[in-house]
Amino acid sequence: MFILNNHNPVPLYKQLYNQIREHVLSGKLLPDTRLPSVRDLAAELSTSRNTVEGAYQELYAEGYIYSKPRSGYFVSALDQDAAPLSLSRNLKAHKQLPGPPAIFPFDFHPARLDPESFPTALWRKCYSDSLRQNSQQLVQYGDPQGDWGLRCSIQSYLERSRGVLCNPDQIVICSGLQQGLDVVAHLLKDHHSVVAVENPGYFLPRSVFSNHSYKIFSVPVRPGGLDLDCLKASNSTIVYVTPSHQLPLGYVMPVANRLKLIEWAEEGGNFIIEDDYDSELRYHGRPIPSLQGLRPQGNIIYSGTFSKILSPALRVSYLVLPSSLLAKYRQLYRDYFPTVSLLEQRTLAIFMEQGHWERHVRRMRIIYKNKHNALLCAIEHYFGSRAVVIGQGAGLHLVLQLPGSSLSAVEINERARPKGVRLFPFSDFYLSGGPESTTLLVGFGGMTATEIELGIKLLSQVCNCPDIV
Ligand SMILES: Cc1ncc(COP(=O)(O)O)c(C=O)c1O
Repeated sequence: MFILNNHNPVPLYKQLYNQIREHVLSGKLLPDTRLPSVRDLAAELSTSRNTVEGAYQELYAEGYIYSKPRSGYFVSALDQDAAPLSLSRNLKAHKQLPGPPAIFPFDFHPARLDPESFPTALWRKCYSDSLRQNSQQLVQYGDPQGDWGLRCSIQSYLERSRGVLCNPDQIVICSGLQQGLDVVAHLLKDHHSVVAVENPGYFLPRSVFSNHSYKIFSVPVRPGGLDLDCLKASNSTIVYVTPSHQLPLGYVMPVANRLKLIEWAEEGGNFIIEDDYDSELRYHGRPIPSLQGLRPQGNIIYSGTFSKILSPALRVSYLVLPSSLLAKYRQLYRDYFPTVSLLEQRTLAIFMEQGHWERHVRRMRIIYKNKHNALLCAIEHYFGSRAVVIGQGAGLHLVLQLPGSSLSAVEINERARPKGVRLFPFSDFYLSGGPESTTLLVGFGGMTATEIELGIKLLSQVCNCPDIV
C-alpha cells in the first residue's frame, strides 16, 4: 500500500507520514481502521521500526490517528470534505459534470454498426489462438509498421477485393484514419503546404492537416466526384478524396475522372489520398475497384479501415504508401513503436488467415442491405414525394433532401431529439456554404429494420409530414 524510496531526499519517515496522511484525508483509509503494528509495517516496507514509529508519532501528534492502549493506532474520524486531497472525491461532488452520453432509441448516426454483429465467439477464439501462438512475441513491442502477418493478409485481401496492387512492406498499420493522416502530414510537410478537400466532405482530414499547419482548400463535389477544374486552378499539391463512396453525398467518381485526377497528380508531382473507408458495402453490383489500382506506381496513398465492417472500437486501419514515400517513412518512424496492440493485430491476422474476415464481410453486406432497403421503404412510405434520396445503394448512410420543408435541418434535429431521434448535423460536412434545401444525413447501421421504420415515422412527424398510414 505504501512505497518508500531510498533515493528520495525526503526522509523515509516523512514519506510514510505523507502517504498515510493522504490516505486518511482522501478517505482511502476509513475512520477507525486499525493501522498495521509498527513491527509488521516495518517488515512489510523493509525499513526500520524507527521510520514507522516516527511517522505514526507525527500523525498522532497532528490528530490524523489515535491510539488505544494495547491495541495500536487507528484512523481518526475527520471531516474529509474540509481538506479534500482526492480528485475522485471531488469529482463525485460536482453535480454539473456531464454524465454518460444520452442513448437514443432511434439513432441515425452514420458511424453506428449493427449492435449484434460483432463476431464475439470467433474473435475470442482467435484471441486465444493469438495468445497461444505468440507468447514469445508478447514480451516485445513488435514492428512499428505493423505485424507482418497482418500486413500480408491485408495485402492479399486488398488485391482480391479492391484491386489495390502493393507489397506488404508498403502497408502501415494505424489506429484509425486520424493517425494515418498524421503520418501522411508528417511525410509530406517538407514539400507541400496546401491540401484540397471535398466540400461537402469528411471533417477529420481538415482538422488533421490544419493541426499540422497546412492550408485547406475546399473543392466543390459534383455527381462525378470533386470538381477537377477547381482543383487544377488551386495551388493544392495534395488532395484527400473518397472516390468510391463520397462522404457524405455517396457519389462514385467515374473512371474518366479518376484518370484525370491521376494525371493531375503525375503532372505536378502531387499526391492523392484515397480514403476507401466503406467500399465493401455496395448493395448492387460489384464493389468499385480502387483508384490506387489504376496507377499502383503513382503518388497515391490508399487508406482503409476495419471500423465499418468489424468494429470502430478496435481502432485498426491501414495505409498503403506509394514506393516513393517508403524511404522517408522509414527514416521518420524508425524509432517509433506500434500504435495498435500486437495482440489485437495478431488476433485480426488469424481472423483473416482463417477466412473469417471475408465471410464476415459477406454477412454484413446482407445485414446492411436489408437495413438500407428498410430505410428506403420507410422514407418512401412516410415522406413520399416530399423527399429526395441521394447516395443510396452503398455504405451505412444516405442523404435525405426535403426541398419543400419550412424547417431547417437544425430545427428538425432539435425537434427530433426529445422524441428519441438522433441525427448527425449535415452542416458539419461543409467547410463553406451549405446545401440549397433542408438536408439530413440518415445512418442506418445501428438500428433494426423495425426501429428504422419507427424512427422515420417519428422524423416525418417532426418534419410536419402527415403519415400516409
Ligand atoms: C470518410 C471516413 N473515412 C474513414 C473513416 C474511418 O475512420 P477510422 O478508421 O478512424 O475509424 C470514417 C469513419 O466514420 C469515415 O467517415
